Amino acid sequence: MKLKAPWNERNGRFSALKAIVFAGLFAPAAWLAFELATGMLFPKPVTELIHGAGLWTVRLLLLSLLVTPLRRYARWNKLIAIRRMVGVAAFAYALAHFSLYIVDQSYNLLHVASEIALRFYLTIGFAALVGLATLAATSTDAMIRRIGAANWNRLHKLVYLIAPLALLHFFLQAKANVAEPAMMTGLFFLLMLARLFTRFGWPQWAGALASALIAAPATALAEASWYALVRHIPFARVWDANFSLLLAPRPSWLVAAAGVALVVVALARLAPPSTALRAVPLPRFAGKEGAASRQP
Ligand code: HEM
Repeated sequence: MKLKAPWNERNGRFSALKAIVFAGLFAPAAWLAFELATGMLFPKPVTELIHGAGLWTVRLLLLSLLVTPLRRYARWNKLIAIRRMVGVAAFAYALAHFSLYIVDQSYNLLHVASEIALRFYLTIGFAALVGLATLAATSTDAMIRRIGAANWNRLHKLVYLIAPLALLHFFLQAKANVAEPAMMTGLFFLLMLARLFTRFGWPQWAGALASALIAAPATALAEASWYALVRHIPFARVWDANFSLLLAPRPSWLVAAAGVALVVVALARLAPPSTALRAVPLPRFAGKEGAASRQP
């Protein structure tokens, strides 16, 4: 079997986009390795690495979910070529995260298994990891051909379950500060809503705007509810922080900013398309990437 270079198109031609993204996906790992080598992770290097790898898993998972809406808003079909790469990278970081956890537990696999069974946040994380492994294993061209496009698409809808599991794991392991999990959850809301409004047939800019208008307060609601339920901090105190400049930026603000960025992209692409774009209408599903071009 001949292996295709990840930076090449299917026709074997070099793709700058794929090459840049491919290199970029190694950047977090390279940075973590640098921090490790220079003692920046002292005194708990393995713990810090577990955190770094976990964070990047969530970030890449969300990035993979951003590809489809961004491709539509920006009318940039070629973007689809990087989705699989980003998804597989998310799995690689998740695997590193899990492996580091095993290292942290002194390679005692029996203990690791019992911790996964006993600690809810680890059970959830493990379920997300198994889900990601399933998606990665079925993402080769040969596997897509073997299981068929329709089944592949059905199976890969699993990502809509995996992402909330990953986010819940993120929330549950956070001790006092849930700002980052709350922001990631808000971004997930934003991306899901953007898909929903596209499904309803809304104009892209209107869908992006509505998504931002819903996702930002939903983020604030999720954050305040979490603190109220888990930390017993009065709901109003956290909710009101969203209206204070002193406590800025709140997760809801960042989600709103991401939503505004999507609106801007969609509006920018409202301008009359170039002749080249007009001549080649946007296909609903780009054929070449096969099943991988369909949603999610
Ligand atoms: C797709 C699967 C997973 C994702 C996306 C994920 C993500 C994360 C994230 C984002 C963090 C917090 C990082 C930070 O706050 O800096 C974290 C922490 C952690 N995760 Fe995961 N994780 C996953 C699976 C697992 C699995 C399978 C295990 C082990 C069985 C695990 C064990 C841990 C541990 C031990 C921590 C640190 C908790 C602490 O410091 O108290 N994770 N994970």
